[in-house]
Amino acid sequence: MELFEAIRTRRSIRKYLEKPVEEEKLQAVLEAVRLAPSWANMQCWRLIVVTDKEVRAKISDLSYVESYFSPKGYKANPSKKALAEAPVLIVLCAEPSQSGSLWGQSYYLVDAGIAAQSMMLAARGQGLGSVFVGVYDEVKVKGVLRIPQNVRVVGLFPLGYPADEAKSGPGRKPIEEICFREMWKA
Ligand SMILES: Cc1cc2nc3c(=O)[nH]c(=O)nc-3n(C[C@H](O)[C@H](O)[C@H](O)COP(=O)(O)O)c2cc1C
Repeated sequence: MELFEAIRTRRSIRKYLEKPVEEEKLQAVLEAVRLAPSWANMQCWRLIVVTDKEVRAKISDLSYVESYFSPKGYKANPSKKALAEAPVLIVLCAEPSQSGSLWGQSYYLVDAGIAAQSMMLAARGQGLGSVFVGVYDEVKVKGVLRIPQNVRVVGLFPLGYPADEAKSGPGRKPIEEICFREMWKA
């Protein structure tokens, strides 16, 4: 698939077929992370690929954070089922000390964010789907996966074949609202 076509048609996928992900396709998705740019090329990301059904179910159960979802009236993370049902779950971690920090901005999240988009586009380009899941009980997820204290969990990514053809999804702000020419426009 042509790159811009993948960018344009990528959607958050929350329903998956049971069909397993071929190892070559999984490797290509992981390779997309490996090749991503990062602060001083420090490559602070670490990935855990989870295929064990019970572990996926445990992590899915940890995707509700009451303080975040309750005020919005949500009873579950919209991706709860996706986390349990997609045949592969990629846990994207990062070691903050292995990235930059300047003027109060922590770049490990930027490094991981770039890697995440590369990963999702690589998935899309191969007919796979994913979704960035950023809401979960990090302490408990770390406990389940034995992730050390100095490492942060940045996102959970179900990976698999989409059950439906991707719909158009939520809209975006017009370009004039997000991009100014020459100077900030109030
Ligand atoms: C940092 C981040 C965290 C997100 N967390 C969640 C989440 O916890 N649950 C979920 O269902 N979707 C989550 N999403 C997906 C967004 O809701 C989705 O990307 C957005 O609505 C745009 O839809 P699209 O991806 O289909 O274009 C997250 C996305 C990002 C980038």
